[in-house]
Amino acid sequence: MSGLPASVKIKEVGPRDGLQAEAAILSTEDKLRLIGCLAGAGLREIEASSFVSPRAIPALADAAEVFANLDRRPGAVYSAVVPNEKGARRAVEAEADEIQVFLAASEGYNRSNVRMSVEESLEQAARVAKVAREADVPFVAVLSVAFGCPYEGAVAPERVLDLCGRLKELGAREITLGDTTGMAYPTQVRGLSRAYGERYPDVPLRLHFHNTRGMGLANVLAALEAGVDRFDASVGGLGGSPYAPGATGNICTEDLVHMLHEMGVETGVDLEALIGCARLLEEFLGHELPGKVMKAGICGHLTAAP
Ligand code: COA
Ligand code: ZN
Repeated sequence: MSGLPASVKIKEVGPRDGLQAEAAILSTEDKLRLIGCLAGAGLREIEASSFVSPRAIPALADAAEVFANLDRRPGAVYSAVVPNEKGARRAVEAEADEIQVFLAASEGYNRSNVRMSVEESLEQAARVAKVAREADVPFVAVLSVAFGCPYEGAVAPERVLDLCGRLKELGAREITLGDTTGMAYPTQVRGLSRAYGERYPDVPLRLHFHNTRGMGLANVLAALEAGVDRFDASVGGLGGSPYAPGATGNICTEDLVHMLHEMGVETGVDLEALIGCARLLEEFLGHELPGKVMKAGICGHLTAAP
C-alpha cells in the first residue's frame, strides 16, 4: 500500500568502512566483540574487513586475524572488500563469505584511492571475479563516487550505468552504488535507481550513502520509493574515508532501522540490541558517535511528562 518494500536487507559496514576512518586503531579483540554484538542484534550481512595494502589502511591490517577468529553465526555473511587479485586471494584464504571488489566511477577518485585507472581496476575486478568463482565464493561489486566526485564533480549517470554493465558481465551478483562523500540528493537517487532497475533488472542494486551533508536518510526514502531494498549503514554513524576531503560517517544503522520500523518496513534487526552495540563502540573509541536514536531514544518509548 505504502509503495515501500515490505522488508529491507541492511549490510553493516562499520567494522570496515567505519573503522578505516578512525584515528584510533581498535584492537582485533574489540573488533571481534563489535562484530559479535552486531550479529547478535540480528544483522545478517557484515562487512568485516578489507584486504588492501596495510600501508594504505593501517587500521585494517589485521583483516586475516579478524576473519580467523570470527564467531560465525549460522546464516550471517561476513564480507571482505578487495581492490585487486592479491586481496581476493587473501580473502579466499581467510574464508570470507563474500568478496566485494571496489572501484570508483571517476578516474581521479580511483587513482587517489587505489593508484589505478578505472580500466586497470576493471582488469583487476575480472581477476577478482575469477578467483572468487574458482573458490566458489559469491562475488559482488561496489562502484564508489557514483553520485558525484569530490575531485571531478558530477559523474554522468550513463557512465555509471555503463560501468555497472561491465561489472555485471564479470558476474557480479549484486552491485552497490556508493555515495562516498555524501553528494547524492533524493531526486538524483530516485532517477539513477529507476534507470538502473530498468537496465539491469536481474542484478540487485544496493545503495551506500554517507551522511556528509545530512541527506542520507532522505536518499534512502527516495531509493525505497524507487524499489531499492538493500542498503549499507554503519553502527553509530561511524565512518568516512581518509581519501575523501571532509568525509563523515555512513548513514547510521540504528537511525536507519528506526526509520524503517516506524514506516512498517522489516529489517530483522533488534533495535535495542543494536543501540547497545553503538554504546559499546563509543566505549571502545572513547568518543561520541553521530547516531541520533542512541541519544534521543526510540520514538515509541514514551518518557514521563514533567
Ligand atoms: N593486500 C595486501 N597487500 C597488497 C595488496 C593487497 N590487496 N595489494 C598490493 N599489496 C602490496 C604489494 O604486495 C606491495 O607490497 P610490497 O611493497 O611489500 O612488495 C605493495 O602493496 C604495493 O603494491 P602495488 O601493487 O604496487 O600497489 P600500490 O602501491 O600501487 O597500491 C593498492 C595499490 C590498491 C594495493 C593500494 O592503493 C590499496 O590497498 N588501496 C586501498 C585503499 C582503500 O582501502 N581505500 C578505502 C576503500 S574505499
Ligand atoms: Zn563508504
